[in-house]
Amino acid sequence: MTNVGPEDLNYHYYSAERYDKDIVNTIPGYEALHQEIANITKKIDPNPKILELGVGTGNTTLVIAENTKNAHFTLIDFSEQMLNGAKEKLNGHSCEFILKDYSEMELPKNYDAAICVIGFHHQETDKDKKQMILRIYNSLKRGGLFILGDLMTYDNKELAALNEAEHYSFLVKNAENKEFLKEWAYHHKFLNKLASKESHIRWMHEIGFSTEVKLEEFNTVLILAKKI
Ligand SMILES: C[S@@+](CC[C@H](N)C(=O)[O-])C[C@H]1O[C@@H](n2cnc3c(N)ncnc32)[C@H](O)[C@@H]1O
Repeated sequence: MTNVGPEDLNYHYYSAERYDKDIVNTIPGYEALHQEIANITKKIDPNPKILELGVGTGNTTLVIAENTKNAHFTLIDFSEQMLNGAKEKLNGHSCEFILKDYSEMELPKNYDAAICVIGFHHQETDKDKKQMILRIYNSLKRGGLFILGDLMTYDNKELAALNEAEHYSFLVKNAENKEFLKEWAYHHKFLNKLASKESHIRWMHEIGFSTEVKLEEFNTVLILAKKI
């Protein structure tokens, strides 16, 4: 279950251009994360079927489209505003767009890869997050990849506190004005429901994925999981 509706999220009201500018200034390691995703997706065989949960304006999708051959995408988002941005950005690529809450629909099956970048933390509880990982597992072929890039905390409380402080410091440093800082600090403090990196990895192993951590920058973590 998702802890917010699209109307609770500030970027639901933004232009796609504004979202694209803001996201780089609010997510530490956003560009490095996408560079890693490019490296991973370069190795995917041609003609892959790719499922993306929370496509936003299509930034992650575009990186994948540019690094795979003949990918077909199923792209889900519950924000019409964001999905419209993605439709424009991904014009010319093979995409099916679905306007729905991915936690409340039956996920289609038989995918080579599933991806969720900077949105999974809106699955409200640990139970919801694990359930979602299981549903993603079931949507993949054997050997399929689940690429999860998200904000996560850490089991070690000192590390968790340090990375949280670094995250806010990043927001303060990049804020263009007080309004920007207020919106994104509120978003992080009250709307983002972070679980630890270690919990995500444990759930993935229990469900049947092998995992590799590809990037960590403060609270931003990229996990590459493979359905065994
Ligand atoms: C912060 S954006 C990230 C998009 C893209 N991966 C990027 O890096 O720019 C997350 C997107 O997920 C969508 N989202 C979050 N929870 C969702 C859910 N349960 N169902 C559908 N879309 C969801 C939001 O509307 C938003 O467009």
